[in-house]
Amino acid sequence: MNTIVVFASGSGSNAEKIISYFEKVSHVEVLKVYTNNSKAGVIARVSSKGVPTRVFDRETYEKEVLDELKKLNPSLVVLAGFLWKIPQGYLSAFPSKIINIHPSLLPKYGGKGMYGGHVFDAIVANKESETGITIHYVNEHYDEGAIIFQAKTSLSTSDTAESVAEKTHRLEHKHFAAVIHKLLENQ
Ligand code: GAR
Repeated sequence: MNTIVVFASGSGSNAEKIISYFEKVSHVEVLKVYTNNSKAGVIARVSSKGVPTRVFDRETYEKEVLDELKKLNPSLVVLAGFLWKIPQGYLSAFPSKIINIHPSLLPKYGGKGMYGGHVFDAIVANKESETGITIHYVNEHYDEGAIIFQAKTSLSTSDTAESVAEKTHRLEHKHFAAVIHKLLENQ
């Protein structure tokens, strides 16, 4: 049995897609979803799917949550819109097992402060002719770990931050779970 846990800070559309995808895969289980935000939409989305959630704060993040993860011993830790930096203890406990999705073609539009709307505003301001998504391993620097997968979509001058966000989410929902599945199969 392969197992995954998901970390998310926001609406949780990717977390939900991942859960729905693996409901149909008998040998992969989404054990739990973790969030740093007690008001995050992800909690309701995930609970309605029957997957347990845990809300944590700065205090429990560094040790208690890590200790719990060590016990769960997931095959992969998946960051799906999770905005806090991953502490060194996590990286040491799960080497090459923590992956993140980022809403741009890294290394473009990555780094601290580059998330959600900030990314899409910058892409529109720079009149990019294409954008996309990046799934990558997590290391000690924001958005700098080895790239696992990228997918692209083209943009036109009529695109707005909203339409870029929509195109990007469409790519995320199409590819993220399948990429996770492939990684699990190759572990
Ligand atoms: C996704 O677009 C993801 O790429 C982005 O947060 C969004 C979460 O959406 N992640 C980052 O910006 C990380 N730097 P969701 O909550 O609907 O899944």
